[in-house]
Amino acid sequence: MKLLVTGSSGQLGSYVCELLADRHEIIGMDIKPAVVPGLKPLVGDIRRPGDVREALSDVDAVVHCAAQVSVERSLEDPVSDAETNVIGTINLLQECAARKVRRFVYVSSAAVLGDPKYIPVGEAHPTEPMSNYGASKLAGERFALAYTKSHGVDVVVVRPFNFYSPRADPESPYSGVITKFTRRVKAGEAPIIEGDGLQTRDFIHARDVASFIGLLLEKDDISGEVFNCGSGVATSILDLARLVISAGSLDVEPELTAPRKGDIRHSVADMSKAKALLGFSTKVSLRDGIAEMLG
Ligand SMILES: NC(=O)c1ccc[n+]([C@@H]2O[C@H](COP(=O)([O-])OP(=O)(O)OC[C@H]3O[C@@H](n4cnc5c(N)ncnc54)[C@H](O)[C@@H]3O)[C@@H](O)[C@H]2O)c1
Repeated sequence: MKLLVTGSSGQLGSYVCELLADRHEIIGMDIKPAVVPGLKPLVGDIRRPGDVREALSDVDAVVHCAAQVSVERSLEDPVSDAETNVIGTINLLQECAARKVRRFVYVSSAAVLGDPKYIPVGEAHPTEPMSNYGASKLAGERFALAYTKSHGVDVVVVRPFNFYSPRADPESPYSGVITKFTRRVKAGEAPIIEGDGLQTRDFIHARDVASFIGLLLEKDDISGEVFNCGSGVATSILDLARLVISAGSLDVEPELTAPRKGDIRHSVADMSKAKALLGFSTKVSLRDGIAEMLG
């Protein structure tokens, strides 16, 4: 199968390209140069219909990872967030419909859910995003699912929870908590926790998310389905900080600072649908993932 992976130079997209390279012919599309050796790269912008047309000229399936990924930036510049996450997604869907592309995997986010009303969070949980980023990812999801009904595009939605890997940009002010903690511990400094540290999150390695996407591409009869993608394990930020400190053999306690405004309290995925329909389970434990980050 010929596969287009958007966002192929990013954290998740690069793992998807690597993982699926032995099974599929892969074309990567990104505004940044390719990072995966041997990949057929295409520097292109999903906001530009001409670039999308060229990228989709001869593919059977699309894994759409490209996005504006920062919540903070989505609040500072909501229009450019929506240009990438909404208009860029529509550009791809429109071209997929015209070319009868076999499957479109839309990489959404648990951010579409907002503050969970109950945990673990199943796929049927209400979607009430709390940021422009969550809203634009949800709009992309809704457009993608609408294209299944209106144009027959075989769309599958995956909602990753918090994923991490050494490929997350450590220089980014918007990087995730594991990247921030491991960076501090590597420098011999205590991790800084926003709030009391008792808030929980569901962490999954980006390589496991890529494996999940591989399963979605192989499975028939899941058109229009939405899948959570997490570990199914709730980890408190305090436990995470202690895990990183101990893996880094530091003798410090985490530092506590003011809570982040609008932060949700608890989030963990109900993974029963993915287990039942895809046979999915994670391969990388949090302990091993942290060791790799500190490596
Ligand atoms: N990181 C997480 O914890 C997390 C959680 C849930 C969902 N997601 C989603 O997973 C996907 C991948 O996230 P990531 O962490 O790998 O992010 P990333 O920033 O590492 O990768 C995104 C890639 O998209 C590219 N891109 C951005 N705008 C583009 C455009 N207009 N045209 C072409 N390429 C463009 C970027 O250059 C980048 O390489 C995103 O859709 C994100 O919303 C991420």
